[in-house]
Amino acid sequence: MYIQAAVAAALAGLAAAGPLAVSPRSGYTVGPFVTCSASDKAQTSCRNTTAIEDDCCIETRGGQLLATQFWDAKPPKGPTASWTIHGLWPDRCDGSYEGFCDPSREVTGDQITAIIEYFGGHNLLRYMRRYWKDNASVDGSLWSHEYNKHATCFSSGRQQCYSDFSPTADLNATSSRKDVFDFFYRTTEIFKTLDTYAALAEAGVVPSLTRTYTLDEIKGALKRKFGVTPTVGCDKETNELTEMWYHFHVKGGNVYNGEYLPIDGGKSFCNATGIVYTPKKL
Ligand SMILES: *[C@@H]1O[C@H](CO)[C@@H](O)[C@H](O)[C@H]1NC(C)=O
Ligand SMILES: *[C@@H]1O[C@H](CO)[C@@H](O)[C@H](O)[C@H]1NC(C)=O
Ligand SMILES: *[C@@H]1O[C@H](CO)[C@@H](O)[C@H](O)[C@H]1NC(C)=O
Ligand SMILES: *[C@@H]1O[C@H](CO)[C@@H](O)[C@H](O)[C@H]1NC(C)=O
Repeated sequence: MYIQAAVAAALAGLAAAGPLAVSPRSGYTVGPFVTCSASDKAQTSCRNTTAIEDDCCIETRGGQLLATQFWDAKPPKGPTASWTIHGLWPDRCDGSYEGFCDPSREVTGDQITAIIEYFGGHNLLRYMRRYWKDNASVDGSLWSHEYNKHATCFSSGRQQCYSDFSPTADLNATSSRKDVFDFFYRTTEIFKTLDTYAALAEAGVVPSLTRTYTLDEIKGALKRKFGVTPTVGCDKETNELTEMWYHFHVKGGNVYNGEYLPIDGGKSFCNATGIVYTPKKL
């Protein structure tokens, strides 16, 4: 059960692990997942040296994970001094991706809220309402979009990957959707380790109506903080900063309990100079 103390202990464990090393939690257990072979447990997604025996154990479908964030200034969403969560995406190892992989796993925003409440994630929900913001509609519409488009593509996040999975259970019942809870839990835990606002501010890159920044300044600040370079996203029309994508491979487990190893991102979609970091508070 997801008692608050266990969640707090898990957060303490994560914080101690350092800025980007997202390790399996202590005191809080996702799953329970199917038992994995020693061979699978020794592997890392996209870098496996031998065939993965069970695609529940190491992500095989989208082995490059992207923890993605928004800077929503127009209209402003979320705290003025924080980026917000976009999602957790399974890209293929080559950077291509697929979406909406399994309609039977889809959920609505209301179902997501009910599932998180059912499993006792009241703090998680409170956190999501603050940091996982839809830019136009109700937050639940972004949450369900993210789950339905991206999380349904995880090989290792399927209900069949849980050791208490029952083929005869009502797979859409709230109590059967631990997979949904684990997705939202894991995505927020990873977000907490990637404070883009603070990393940029440490390098003097702060929202401004008068200054602009170069892509190198932005990437340099994040590389210094996190050791890798994310993919930086801008509005193509205005060159305003809008997105940050942090890339990972996952070691020794599935997408919800494995260790996230940071890797450099792909080509950014911002101009090299004249990048605008629009304040949320005008
Ligand atoms: C990695 O695992 C995938 C999925 O099992 C497999 O297709 C691929 O051949 C493996 N790579 C190596 C180098 O064994
Ligand atoms: C679960 O509910 C969603 C949304 O209502 C629906 O799209 C999906 O088909 C349902 N899945 C199953 C297995 O009934
Ligand atoms: C909200 O975000 C989506 C996805 O990034 C984008 O397509 C849309 O234009 C945005 N809407 C507003 C009002 O900014
Ligand atoms: C981005 O750079 C291109 C090529 O120099 C230029 O044509 C375009 O106007 C720039 N876009 C913005 C939004 O500044």
